[in-house]
Amino acid sequence: MAKISQQTIDLVKRTADIVDVVSEVVKLQPSGKNLTGLCPFHSEKTPSFFVHKDSGLFNCYGCHEKGDAIHFVQKYKNISYPEAIAELAHRYHIEIETEGGDEYHIKSDLKRPYELNEAANAFYQVNLTNMERGKVALDYIRGRGLDVHTIQYFELGYAPQERSVLFQELKSTYEPVEMMELGLINKGGKDYYDLFRHRLIFPIRNEQGKLVAFSGRILEKNENEAKYVNTPQTKLFVKSQVLYNLDKALPFIRRQKRVVLFEGYLDVIAAFQAGVKEGVCSMGTALTEEQARLIKKHTDQAVLCYDGDSAGFEAMVTGIRVLENAGLVVGVVLLPEGLDPDEFVRKKSKAAFASYLENHVIDPVEFEYEVTKRKFDLTKPSQVEEFKAQLFKSLERRGSQTLLEFYIKKLTQDLSVDESVIRSDMHHHQITQAILASNKRKKEQIANIAILSKRIRAENRLLLYFVKKREFRIPIIDALTPMFVKENLNVSILVEAEAILAKDNSLEDITELVVKAFTKESERTMVRQRLEEGIGDFSDVDLAQLIHSVNISKLEDEVLALQKDRELAPTQEEFMNISKQIQALLIRIQELKKENPWKKPKS
Ligand code: UTP
Ligand code: MN
Repeated sequence: MAKISQQTIDLVKRTADIVDVVSEVVKLQPSGKNLTGLCPFHSEKTPSFFVHKDSGLFNCYGCHEKGDAIHFVQKYKNISYPEAIAELAHRYHIEIETEGGDEYHIKSDLKRPYELNEAANAFYQVNLTNMERGKVALDYIRGRGLDVHTIQYFELGYAPQERSVLFQELKSTYEPVEMMELGLINKGGKDYYDLFRHRLIFPIRNEQGKLVAFSGRILEKNENEAKYVNTPQTKLFVKSQVLYNLDKALPFIRRQKRVVLFEGYLDVIAAFQAGVKEGVCSMGTALTEEQARLIKKHTDQAVLCYDGDSAGFEAMVTGIRVLENAGLVVGVVLLPEGLDPDEFVRKKSKAAFASYLENHVIDPVEFEYEVTKRKFDLTKPSQVEEFKAQLFKSLERRGSQTLLEFYIKKLTQDLSVDESVIRSDMHHHQITQAILASNKRKKEQIANIAILSKRIRAENRLLLYFVKKREFRIPIIDALTPMFVKENLNVSILVEAEAILAKDNSLEDITELVVKAFTKESERTMVRQRLEEGIGDFSDVDLAQLIHSVNISKLEDEVLALQKDRELAPTQEEFMNISKQIQALLIRIQELKKENPWKKPKS
């Protein structure tokens, strides 16, 4: 593989301007000497991403990504270092010199795998369009209304039924291990067999148009097999980072200034035939942050047009959040009669679909309103109440007076009641919510006080043991010294007691010495009281239980502290990390609570 010369790398480094490179994809605003914007590497609402003109570096305080222009391009486009150099060289019209003097090939280590995928693709395509055995698949897809041009445009193919035809076809040129690495074949015992058999094939290309994976659709209904089989994750394919058809849709996305997101391959294809060519879809999984950022690179506007069933609605609810977090303006199209896009095209017409998509884009709040409305039967009074409650709640979350006014009017119409009735309902709802919230806070406070007082009682009692009984001092100090932090007077008593015992540890009851150690009379009274309170029998069972219970409190404290940390976690990874620690502690606490081996013998 030809290596880019050091001179070229240096020249690119000197020439590439960080502000220039970053502002192509991030909207930057001046902030003191620097520039700031929303980080393209994690989702955020307030900017923690900074670009330093002088040093030529970027730095995100949220996700800690940092580096120079080359690193930025590398990370943003998910490409290798030499690829990023090549990309910037191209941008600044720098000629790439190679060390060996020969031509430079981008990622030549991946050249062969891509070629292998292309070879498989060619094989599948020939089987669909030129071979007798592909007729069943061709008939199927023609039966679904796809024309020849569309079949070619999307490079559809057919994987034959036989166990290893693809393997046989390619084995003279490629090693089995290469084919396995791309998920094209599997090994069963000693022989190899094809992953896709008797399936309609959809090739999946990445943003750059490189062939990274395939998906195969079943041709006859079969409950025992997955409808679609996808290439597993390979070095070329990470499902969460790819959007089907994005490469071909790009020019249309730019022209239409929006992307349309569908649920399935055949929806993308049917929409294309209907003239909506800026469509893409994820591959059977919820939209990911990475996919949303991929879209954001090319447009600010995304329209969700999923299936018109409840699964489709659910998926759109999540999709809206992911897209909005990436900074996209989101629109939603709700298809009528539970249809999916492909069914809509076939049942109505191509023209009807295209025009529906133009004229029925609603905003996410309206979508939420419509979806909520569909969940209820508004002829039944109890369901009307439930509908109102849900709507009020979702409006409350948005916190906009304008929206509130708008939907009060809408609700007035939809329920055909007087506006004043809706207003009074809304008011009632707000008051109820406020009371509920305040009750919840009070309950939490009371629970906290109960836990705390239990803890302090245990502390107080341990302190009595410590001060009065020499034989128990060692286990208490061993287990609990740092624990006496909850109650200030207890901390002081412990400190004084330890000082006294440091001079003479043979003393038995040191109550009086401890009291005298305090100078103010008022303090002495309190200390004396504390050390006289509830003196009863001392036993090692009792002591063990106290230590046990304070140990549990200590862990519970740690959990609380971690939960606070978690709220401030800067990254998802950190969040998960802390969650794991919390989980481990909770398990430990459960175990400890069960343990309690010092049950008081019944007397
Ligand atoms: P659908 O079941 O809605 O299929 O799954 P579809 O695209 O409408 O296909 P037709 O019209 O029934 O032929 C939507 C998408 O979910 C993924 C595929 O990407 C599919 O296009 N999927 C579905 C899978 O990955 N695996 C499955 O088993 C099913
Ligand atoms: Mn469908």
